[in-house]
Parts: sequence; structure tokens; C-alpha cells
Amino acid sequence: MTRPVIPVIAVDGPSGVGKGMATRWLASRTGWHRLDSGALYRILALAATHAAVPLDQADAVAALAGGLDIRFVGETEADEAILVDGQDWTHEIRAEETGNLASKIATASVVRDALMQRQRDFRTAPGLIADGRDMGTIVFPDAVLKVFLDASAEARAERRYRQLSKKGASVKLTDLFAEVRARDERDRKRAVAPLAAAPDAVIIDTTQMGVPEVLTEIEALLKSRQLVD
Ligand code: DC
Repeated sequence: MTRPVIPVIAVDGPSGVGKGMATRWLASRTGWHRLDSGALYRILALAATHAAVPLDQADAVAALAGGLDIRFVGETEADEAILVDGQDWTHEIRAEETGNLASKIATASVVRDALMQRQRDFRTAPGLIADGRDMGTIVFPDAVLKVFLDASAEARAERRYRQLSKKGASVKLTDLFAEVRARDERDRKRAVAPLAAAPDAVIIDTTQMGVPEVLTEIEALLKSRQLVD
């Protein structure tokens, strides 16, 4: 008897597009697990920095991946904790700078290969919501639903600006816009697993949409694929 395949919903898109919000909502709507693949790249970049491994030495960076004990605790953004070798890295990995370092190491295929199995290990019953750049194209090409969220770089920089300002951070919109553009450029143009919508992905351009509208569209997709009642 063949074992039923554990279903995956892949949500890909550029940085700051709202994948975290959408995948957290999807995980609570379906009761499935969630993979934040970007967090793995962030953790590896930070681990390399802590170990004084130069980020352009891809083999040495990749070699660190197997030895890291990574635990994701909690379900919501508020109670989420990310423990690496028993230490709390929840806040450290979210820094803008860590995102940039992650984007740099993510251009190396040896690094991507080193994280592949770790990502696939998240595929456990009853199902998985996978958040990233190459979930629908490379890591889970057999996903039952592939959503590609997109938005203009201006809209994403503005959303980030509002988020950070609300938290009391002093940031400049022009700096955020430049960072968003630089990260897009690197993530979309890299030779291996570039950020791209899978041919069978449903593309949702959220530039002009609010959160409730995005979730309404995703809910409609879930229903049309009979993934929820
Ligand atoms: O989603 P994020 O901002 O946490 O991801 C940080 C960086 O990691 C992103 O700019 C590129 C890289 N990344 C990747 O290459 N592939 C993924 N599946 C997830 C993230």
C-alpha cells in the first residue's frame, strides 16, 4: 500500500510582501505545521558570523548547517521563539542586516543543498505551510497549492517603514526602499533557485490590497482546492 503524501501549501514571494502573515494565518486555518525557510538562512548566516567564518566561503558556511540544533517554539508571532543550540535567537535573526547576510549566503548552491533536507523534514502530518522563495519551484515542487505573493518594491518598503515606526525604530523610508531593491535584485537574479513563481502558482499582486482582501483570496483558493470545508 502506498502511503498518502503529506500535503504542502507553498507560499513564495519577495521580502516584505506579507508571506509571514499569510502563512501564519494558513497554518491556523488548516491546523498544519509551518516552515519559515528564511529563518533557516538567517540562522546559518548568523552562525557563520558568530563563528567568524567569512560569508563568501560557501563551503565553510554550508558545513556549519548540519551541526546546528534549531528549534521553533510557539505558533503565533507573539509567542514565537527560535532557539539555536539552546540560545534564544528570536530577535537577533529578524534584524534587517541579518536578512541581507542571509540573502548573500543564499546565492551559493552548496549552502542551499545543505539546508534542503532540513526544510523537507518539516513535512509532517497533517500537512505543511511552507514560506520562502523556492518552496513551489525546488523544495516542494509537488505542493497541492502554490501561491506567489507579489507587490511593488515601493509598497513593501512603505509597509516595512510603518511596521518599524510603530515599534519605535528610527528608520528612513529611502534606506528601506534601497534595501528592498538590493535584496530583490540578489534574490531574483541569482543563478541557483532564483525567486520566481512556479508555472503552476497562483500569483496574487497585493500592491493595492489590504490584509483582509489577501486572506479572502487565499481562503477562496483553499475552498476551490477542497483543502478546507
Ligand atoms: O524570508 P526572509 O526575509 O527571512 O529570507 C531572508 C533571505 O534568505 C532572503 O533574502 C533570501 C534567502 N532565502 C532563500 O534564498 N530561500 C528561501 N526559501 C528563503 C529565504
